[in-house]
Amino acid sequence: MTIRLSDLGRAVLQTEYAVRGPIVARAQALEREGREIIYCNIGNPQALEQKPITFLRQVLALCQYPELMTRASDLFPRDVIETARNVLAGTRHGLGAYSDSKGVRFIREAVAAFIHERDGIPTDPEAIYLTDGASKGVQTALRLLISGPRDGIMIPIPQYPLYSATITLYEGRQVGYYLDEEQAWRLSRARLEESYEKATAEGVRVRAICVINPGNPTGAVLDCANISMIIDFARQRGLAILADEVYQENVYLAGDRFYSFARVMAEKDEREVSLFSFHSCSKGFLGECGQRGGYMELRNVPADVVAQVTKLQSVALCANLTGQVATYCMVRPPRPGDESYPLYASERDHIIGELRRRSALLAEGLNRIPGIRCNQVAGAMYAFPSITLPPGRTDEEYCLALLEETGVCVVPGSGFGQVPGTAHLRTTILPPTGKIEAVVERLARFHASYR
Ligand SMILES: Cc1ncc(COP(=O)(O)O)c(C=O)c1O
Repeated sequence: MTIRLSDLGRAVLQTEYAVRGPIVARAQALEREGREIIYCNIGNPQALEQKPITFLRQVLALCQYPELMTRASDLFPRDVIETARNVLAGTRHGLGAYSDSKGVRFIREAVAAFIHERDGIPTDPEAIYLTDGASKGVQTALRLLISGPRDGIMIPIPQYPLYSATITLYEGRQVGYYLDEEQAWRLSRARLEESYEKATAEGVRVRAICVINPGNPTGAVLDCANISMIIDFARQRGLAILADEVYQENVYLAGDRFYSFARVMAEKDEREVSLFSFHSCSKGFLGECGQRGGYMELRNVPADVVAQVTKLQSVALCANLTGQVATYCMVRPPRPGDESYPLYASERDHIIGELRRRSALLAEGLNRIPGIRCNQVAGAMYAFPSITLPPGRTDEEYCLALLEETGVCVVPGSGFGQVPGTAHLRTTILPPTGKIEAVVERLARFHASYR
């Protein structure tokens, strides 16, 4: 039998993922025809000339090919060799064997130590799951929380489409809450209540709230008070929290800093609200999207539910081992005094410095264009400016025309959600600095002539 489109379920057909949607397909077709395309559609740093961190690649090389150990002292710094030896011993059978469903225990212990060092709070390695990127962890948590079509998950608008797509696929209900563009994309209790009340009035059983901090696509960084407010809201409304913290290293403004939900919950002595936190090797300054490393940490989740999470993880046996080792390198980088530390620190500082420069350059450039307005990019890797469109035009048409005319590939705001009647586009801050200037200049020319 040949399977036909009409054989597929509604959930599959309705699932959409804007950052890899039709505009990107068109960009690839134009590229095949010989056009130069500047890809600003997805947070994929190494596709835009960012160099990998040497330490991580050296450790991976030794772990993948332990035969190199005999000659490693000619090739690699001492701490790299020691790290690779420890990791190989920790995995017991190397990178070609499955690990425990939760991931290699030695690596989970390192993740727990990282969280403890970052937040000063006790952390249990058994509450940590190593995942294929943060995406798989998010999907597991949503799978757990959505048990029927009345189950709703609160997601920010605008949001990263992993959430809308997965909720659609699992046949739950999206309960959007608006971020306030006029207030630097902050969350307010009033907006959370409004969205919760509306959903429950429609018969939705709201199960959890997702928060992305620092925000994609908004670039906003939440302060402690905002996080504390969300925790109070979740407790009072009986919700779990999904804290997407994959951009925790991407904070650019002098007065801002990253606070984890885990830390603020511990400071409030919060013992009721279940928390699922996510981190990834794909972002920050590693940008190792292709290695598919990440982790999920659970707090205030009872043992019988944890057992169900482990069962779900075990259906796919385990996360890929290369990604697990990349996660180890993320949470256990070289320390001052290690032979590889000076190079590691200079690579890290260079990448974060460039991202900081580009975030400012892009927002300033966009704000110089009449008809485009952009908040400061305080964190993450994106700008989400509002655009004034001629009557009757959509942001999808605008982004497609922008691509056709200028070769700049961005994603329409409708792919992330926006206040009805407004239009936006999302661009990454990742192109090299010279190209950012080209993006702004092409956008300015295009916008002035767009009818
Ligand atoms: C907010 C957010 N969460 C999760 C992810 C997924 O990252 P990963 O590569 O770790 O699956 C992304 C990727 O862009 C993201 O922006």
